[in-house]
Amino acid sequence: MKERINQLKKQKNAIILAHYYTRPEVQEVADFVGDSLALSRQAASTDADIILFAGVHFMAETAKILNPTKKVLIPDLTASCSLADSCPEAEFAEFLQQHPGHTVLSYINCSAGVKALSDIIVTSGNALQIVNALPKDEKIVFAPDWNLGSYINRMTGREMVLWEGACHVHDQIQAQDVEQLRRFHPSAQVIAHPECPEHVLQLADFVGSTAAMLKHVAQSDQQEFVVVTEKGILYELRRQNPDKKFYALSDANGQGGGDCECANCKYMKYNTLENILSALETEQPELLMDQKLMEAARRPIERMLEMSKK
Ligand code: 13P
Ligand code: SF4
Repeated sequence: MKERINQLKKQKNAIILAHYYTRPEVQEVADFVGDSLALSRQAASTDADIILFAGVHFMAETAKILNPTKKVLIPDLTASCSLADSCPEAEFAEFLQQHPGHTVLSYINCSAGVKALSDIIVTSGNALQIVNALPKDEKIVFAPDWNLGSYINRMTGREMVLWEGACHVHDQIQAQDVEQLRRFHPSAQVIAHPECPEHVLQLADFVGSTAAMLKHVAQSDQQEFVVVTEKGILYELRRQNPDKKFYALSDANGQGGGDCECANCKYMKYNTLENILSALETEQPELLMDQKLMEAARRPIERMLEMSKK
Protein backbone atom coordinates (compact mmCIF):
# COMPACT_ATOMS: atom_id res chain seq x y z
CA MET A 1 0.00 0.00 0.00
CA LYS A 2 2.85 2.37 0.86
CA GLU A 3 4.40 1.79 -2.55
CA ARG A 4 1.13 2.48 -4.35
CA ILE A 5 0.56 5.62 -2.26
CA ASN A 6 4.03 6.89 -3.16
CA GLN A 7 3.42 6.17 -6.87
CA LEU A 8 0.11 8.04 -6.82
CA LYS A 9 1.66 11.02 -5.04
CA LYS A 10 4.23 11.35 -7.83
CA GLN A 11 1.77 10.70 -10.62
CA LYS A 12 -0.77 13.26 -9.35
CA ASN A 13 1.66 15.82 -7.88
CA ALA A 14 0.07 15.26 -4.47
CA ILE A 15 1.52 15.94 -1.05
CA ILE A 16 0.53 14.24 2.21
CA LEU A 17 0.54 16.43 5.32
CA ALA A 18 0.15 14.57 8.61
CA HIS A 19 -0.13 15.51 12.26
CA TYR A 20 2.09 13.89 14.92
CA TYR A 21 -0.95 12.18 16.45
CA THR A 22 -1.67 10.04 13.38
CA ARG A 23 -0.72 6.35 13.20
CA PRO A 24 2.99 5.54 12.65
CA GLU A 25 2.39 4.06 9.19
CA VAL A 26 0.54 7.23 8.17
CA GLN A 27 3.42 9.43 9.36
CA GLU A 28 5.73 7.20 7.31
CA VAL A 29 3.96 7.97 4.01
CA ALA A 30 3.67 11.69 4.76
CA ASP A 31 5.81 14.30 2.99
CA PHE A 32 5.60 16.51 6.03
CA VAL A 33 4.63 15.77 9.65
CA GLY A 34 4.13 18.67 12.04
CA ASP A 35 2.15 20.56 14.64
CA SER A 36 -0.81 22.75 13.65
CA LEU A 37 1.37 25.81 13.06
CA ALA A 38 3.93 24.08 10.84
CA LEU A 39 1.19 22.24 8.94
CA SER A 40 -0.56 25.56 8.21
CA ARG A 41 2.66 27.07 6.90
CA GLN A 42 3.31 24.01 4.78
CA ALA A 43 -0.24 24.05 3.36
CA ALA A 44 0.09 27.75 2.50
CA SER A 45 3.36 27.34 0.64
CA THR A 46 3.04 24.04 -1.22
CA ASP A 47 3.02 23.98 -5.02
CA ALA A 48 1.50 20.49 -5.16
CA ASP A 49 -1.82 20.17 -7.01
CA ILE A 50 -3.41 17.99 -4.34
CA ILE A 51 -3.04 18.25 -0.56
CA LEU A 52 -4.08 15.08 1.25
CA PHE A 53 -4.53 16.04 4.88
CA ALA A 54 -4.05 13.24 7.40
CA GLY A 55 -5.27 14.97 10.52
CA VAL A 56 -8.70 16.18 11.57
CA HIS A 57 -11.34 18.23 9.79
CA PHE A 58 -10.38 21.73 11.02
CA MET A 59 -6.78 21.14 9.89
CA ALA A 60 -7.88 20.25 6.36
CA GLU A 61 -10.17 23.30 6.38
CA THR A 62 -7.22 25.50 7.35
CA ALA A 63 -5.18 24.06 4.46
CA LYS A 64 -8.00 24.78 2.00
CA ILE A 65 -8.51 28.32 3.34
CA LEU A 66 -4.81 29.10 2.98
CA ASN A 67 -4.43 27.55 -0.46
CA PRO A 68 -7.93 27.57 -2.00
CA THR A 69 -6.98 26.67 -5.56
CA LYS A 70 -5.64 23.29 -4.42
CA LYS A 71 -7.69 20.15 -4.23
CA VAL A 72 -7.76 19.19 -0.55
CA LEU A 73 -8.53 15.55 0.22
CA ILE A 74 -9.46 14.30 3.67
CA PRO A 75 -9.38 10.48 4.00
CA ASP A 76 -12.37 10.45 6.37
CA LEU A 77 -14.70 13.45 6.41
CA THR A 78 -15.99 12.44 9.86
CA ALA A 79 -12.56 12.94 11.49
CA SER A 80 -13.69 15.80 13.67
CA CYS A 81 -12.15 17.29 16.83
CA SER A 82 -14.01 17.34 20.16
CA LEU A 83 -12.45 20.69 21.00
CA ALA A 84 -13.60 22.32 17.75
CA ASP A 85 -17.03 20.70 18.27
CA SER A 86 -17.26 22.21 21.76
CA CYS A 87 -17.69 25.67 20.22
CA PRO A 88 -20.70 25.84 17.86
CA GLU A 89 -20.60 28.93 15.67
CA ALA A 90 -24.11 30.26 16.53
CA GLU A 91 -23.55 29.98 20.30
CA PHE A 92 -20.15 31.59 19.97
CA ALA A 93 -21.66 34.52 18.03
CA GLU A 94 -24.12 35.04 20.93
CA PHE A 95 -21.28 34.84 23.46
CA LEU A 96 -19.40 37.53 21.54
CA GLN A 97 -22.42 39.81 21.68
CA GLN A 98 -22.20 39.61 25.47
CA HIS A 99 -18.57 40.81 25.28
CA PRO A 100 -18.48 43.84 22.98
CA GLY A 101 -15.18 45.68 22.52
CA HIS A 102 -13.08 42.53 22.94
CA THR A 103 -10.44 41.27 20.53
CA VAL A 104 -11.39 37.71 19.59
CA LEU A 105 -8.55 35.22 19.77
CA SER A 106 -9.33 31.69 18.68
CA TYR A 107 -7.24 28.57 18.94
CA ILE A 108 -6.81 26.98 15.51
CA ASN A 109 -8.79 23.93 16.76
CA CYS A 110 -12.13 25.47 15.76
CA SER A 111 -14.45 25.44 12.76
CA ALA A 112 -14.08 27.83 9.82
CA GLY A 113 -17.29 29.52 11.04
CA VAL A 114 -15.68 30.32 14.41
CA LYS A 115 -12.49 31.45 12.67
CA ALA A 116 -14.58 33.85 10.59
CA LEU A 117 -15.85 35.44 13.83
CA SER A 118 -12.28 35.87 15.15
CA ASP A 119 -9.66 38.61 14.87
CA ILE A 120 -6.57 36.45 15.29
CA ILE A 121 -5.99 32.70 15.30
CA VAL A 122 -3.34 31.16 17.51
CA THR A 123 -1.87 27.68 17.89
CA SER A 124 -0.28 26.17 20.97
CA GLY A 125 3.03 26.91 19.25
CA ASN A 126 2.56 30.69 19.10
CA ALA A 127 -0.25 31.62 21.54
CA LEU A 128 2.01 33.13 24.23
CA GLN A 129 4.02 35.08 21.68
CA ILE A 130 0.89 36.52 20.04
CA VAL A 131 -0.85 37.41 23.32
CA ASN A 132 2.33 39.08 24.60
CA ALA A 133 2.47 41.18 21.43
CA LEU A 134 -0.98 42.69 22.14
CA PRO A 135 -1.27 45.82 24.32
CA LYS A 136 -1.47 44.94 28.03
CA ASP A 137 -4.87 46.56 28.48
CA GLU A 138 -6.48 44.96 25.40
CA LYS A 139 -9.70 43.17 26.30
CA ILE A 140 -9.62 39.66 24.86
CA VAL A 141 -12.05 36.79 24.41
CA PHE A 142 -10.33 33.43 23.98
CA ALA A 143 -11.97 30.31 22.51
CA PRO A 144 -12.52 27.42 22.42
CA ASP A 145 -10.06 25.72 24.83
CA TRP A 146 -10.58 26.73 28.46
CA ASN A 147 -7.45 24.87 29.64
CA LEU A 148 -5.18 26.56 27.08
CA GLY A 149 -6.82 29.94 27.72
CA SER A 150 -6.30 29.72 31.47
CA TYR A 151 -2.70 28.57 30.93
CA ILE A 152 -2.13 31.68 28.77
CA ASN A 153 -3.76 33.83 31.46
CA ARG A 154 -1.44 32.37 34.11
CA MET A 155 1.67 32.80 31.96
CA THR A 156 0.94 36.32 30.77
CA GLY A 157 -0.96 37.79 33.73
CA ARG A 158 -3.93 38.55 31.44
CA GLU A 159 -7.57 38.12 32.26
CA MET A 160 -8.89 36.91 28.93
CA VAL A 161 -12.57 35.95 28.94
CA LEU A 162 -12.66 32.21 28.26
CA TRP A 163 -15.09 30.07 26.31
CA GLU A 164 -15.59 26.80 28.20
CA GLY A 165 -14.53 24.25 25.59
CA ALA A 166 -12.19 21.29 25.99
CA CYS A 167 -10.46 18.45 24.19
CA HIS A 168 -11.85 15.12 25.42
CA VAL A 169 -8.38 13.57 25.30
CA HIS A 170 -6.31 16.13 27.22
CA ASP A 171 -9.06 17.21 29.59
CA GLN A 172 -9.41 13.65 30.93
CA ILE A 173 -5.76 13.28 31.86
CA GLN A 174 -5.47 13.03 35.64
CA ALA A 175 -2.67 14.35 37.85
CA GLN A 176 -2.63 11.02 39.73
CA ASP A 177 -1.81 9.15 36.49
CA VAL A 178 1.13 11.46 35.85
CA GLU A 179 2.25 11.13 39.48
CA GLN A 180 2.12 7.34 39.21
CA LEU A 181 4.42 7.42 36.17
CA ARG A 182 6.74 9.80 37.97
CA ARG A 183 6.98 7.44 40.94
CA PHE A 184 8.10 4.64 38.61
CA HIS A 185 10.55 6.91 36.78
CA PRO A 186 11.78 9.47 39.30
CA SER A 187 14.54 10.87 37.10
CA ALA A 188 12.25 11.45 34.11
CA GLN A 189 11.21 14.95 33.04
CA VAL A 190 7.49 15.54 32.55
CA ILE A 191 6.54 17.18 29.23
CA ALA A 192 2.91 18.20 28.67
CA HIS A 193 0.60 19.82 26.15
CA PRO A 194 -1.16 23.04 27.30
CA GLU A 195 -4.59 21.55 26.52
CA CYS A 196 -4.21 19.59 29.80
CA PRO A 197 -5.92 20.89 32.96
CA GLU A 198 -4.00 23.08 35.39
CA HIS A 199 -3.51 20.35 38.03
CA VAL A 200 -1.71 18.28 35.38
CA LEU A 201 0.37 21.18 34.02
CA GLN A 202 1.56 21.94 37.56
CA LEU A 203 3.44 18.64 37.46
CA ALA A 204 5.16 19.43 34.16
CA ASP A 205 8.79 20.46 33.73
CA PHE A 206 8.04 21.62 30.19
CA VAL A 207 4.75 22.75 28.57
CA GLY A 208 4.44 23.23 24.83
CA SER A 209 2.92 22.28 21.49
CA THR A 210 3.77 18.91 19.95
CA ALA A 211 6.58 20.49 17.88
CA ALA A 212 7.86 22.39 20.93
CA MET A 213 8.00 19.14 22.93
CA LEU A 214 10.02 17.47 20.18
CA LYS A 215 12.40 20.42 20.07
CA HIS A 216 12.76 20.46 23.85
CA VAL A 217 13.57 16.73 24.00
CA ALA A 218 16.11 16.99 21.15
CA GLN A 219 17.93 19.83 22.93
CA SER A 220 17.72 18.36 26.44
CA ASP A 221 20.47 16.39 28.22
CA GLN A 222 17.77 14.42 30.03
CA GLN A 223 17.45 10.77 29.04
CA GLU A 224 13.92 9.95 30.26
CA PHE A 225 10.58 11.67 29.73
CA VAL A 226 7.02 11.18 30.90
CA VAL A 227 4.90 12.23 27.91
CA VAL A 228 1.60 13.91 28.77
CA THR A 229 -0.25 14.30 25.50
CA GLU A 230 -1.84 12.16 22.82
CA LYS A 231 0.13 8.95 22.34
CA GLY A 232 0.73 9.36 18.57
CA ILE A 233 3.64 11.71 19.28
CA LEU A 234 5.62 8.82 20.78
CA TYR A 235 6.41 7.53 17.31
CA GLU A 236 8.30 10.70 16.32
CA LEU A 237 9.84 11.15 19.78
CA ARG A 238 11.30 7.62 19.63
CA ARG A 239 12.32 7.94 15.97
CA GLN A 240 14.24 11.17 16.60
CA ASN A 241 15.72 10.04 19.94
CA PRO A 242 16.42 6.31 19.78
CA ASP A 243 18.61 6.39 22.90
CA LYS A 244 16.15 8.24 25.12
CA LYS A 245 13.28 6.66 27.03
CA PHE A 246 9.66 7.81 26.87
CA TYR A 247 6.87 6.78 29.22
CA ALA A 248 3.28 7.28 28.14
CA LEU A 249 0.04 7.29 30.09
CA SER A 250 -1.32 4.62 27.77
CA ASP A 251 1.71 2.33 28.01
CA ALA A 252 1.31 -0.43 30.63
CA ASN A 253 4.94 -1.57 30.29
CA GLY A 254 6.10 1.89 31.24
CA GLN A 255 3.80 1.40 34.28
CA GLY A 256 1.19 3.83 32.95
CA GLY A 257 -2.46 2.83 33.14
CA GLY A 258 -2.26 0.78 29.94
CA ASP A 259 -5.72 1.95 29.00
CA CYS A 260 -5.79 2.34 25.23
CA GLU A 261 -8.49 5.00 25.42
CA CYS A 262 -6.26 7.11 27.65
CA ALA A 263 -4.48 9.80 25.66
CA ASN A 264 -5.80 8.42 22.40
CA CYS A 265 -7.46 10.74 19.87
CA LYS A 266 -9.75 8.39 17.96
CA TYR A 267 -10.34 11.03 15.28
CA MET A 268 -6.67 11.21 14.36
CA LYS A 269 -6.69 7.40 14.06
CA TYR A 270 -9.45 7.57 11.45
CA ASN A 271 -6.61 8.17 8.97
CA THR A 272 -5.38 4.78 7.74
CA LEU A 273 -3.24 3.57 4.82
CA GLU A 274 -6.41 2.09 3.32
CA ASN A 275 -8.41 5.31 3.20
CA ILE A 276 -5.37 7.39 2.19
CA LEU A 277 -4.80 5.08 -0.78
CA SER A 278 -8.47 5.18 -1.70
CA ALA A 279 -8.56 9.00 -1.44
CA LEU A 280 -5.54 9.32 -3.75
CA GLU A 281 -7.00 6.85 -6.24
CA THR A 282 -10.47 8.38 -6.43
CA GLU A 283 -9.59 11.98 -5.43
CA GLN A 284 -12.47 11.72 -2.95
CA PRO A 285 -13.57 12.78 -0.38
CA GLU A 286 -12.67 16.30 -1.40
CA LEU A 287 -13.09 19.12 1.10
CA LEU A 288 -15.24 21.80 -0.52
CA MET A 289 -15.89 25.14 1.17
CA ASP A 290 -17.94 28.24 0.60
CA GLN A 291 -15.85 31.07 -0.94
CA LYS A 292 -17.16 33.80 1.37
CA LEU A 293 -16.58 31.68 4.47
CA MET A 294 -13.03 30.95 3.33
CA GLU A 295 -12.32 34.65 2.79
CA ALA A 296 -13.66 35.58 6.22
CA ALA A 297 -11.72 32.79 7.93
CA ARG A 298 -8.47 33.53 6.06
CA ARG A 299 -8.03 37.02 7.51
CA PRO A 300 -7.42 35.95 11.15
CA ILE A 301 -5.22 33.02 10.10
CA GLU A 302 -3.06 35.31 7.97
CA ARG A 303 -2.83 37.71 10.89
CA MET A 304 -1.46 34.81 12.96
CA LEU A 305 1.10 33.90 10.31
CA GLU A 306 2.27 37.53 10.13
CA MET A 307 2.50 37.86 13.91
CA SER A 308 4.27 34.58 14.69
CA LYS A 309 7.96 34.27 14.08
CA LYS A 310 9.21 31.19 12.28
P1 13P B 1 -0.35 21.00 18.22
O1 13P B 1 -0.59 22.22 17.43
O2 13P B 1 0.46 21.22 19.44
O3 13P B 1 0.23 19.90 17.37
O4 13P B 1 -1.75 20.48 18.80
C1 13P B 1 -2.81 20.09 18.00
C2 13P B 1 -3.81 19.35 18.75
O5 13P B 1 -4.83 19.00 18.23
C3 13P B 1 -3.57 19.07 20.14
O6 13P B 1 -4.58 18.28 20.64
FE1 SF4 C 1 -8.93 17.67 18.79
FE2 SF4 C 1 -8.16 16.71 21.13
FE3 SF4 C 1 -7.89 15.21 18.96
FE4 SF4 C 1 -6.32 17.38 19.32
S1 SF4 C 1 -6.35 15.51 20.54
S2 SF4 C 1 -7.38 16.80 17.43
S3 SF4 C 1 -7.75 18.76 20.33
S4 SF4 C 1 -9.82 15.90 19.85
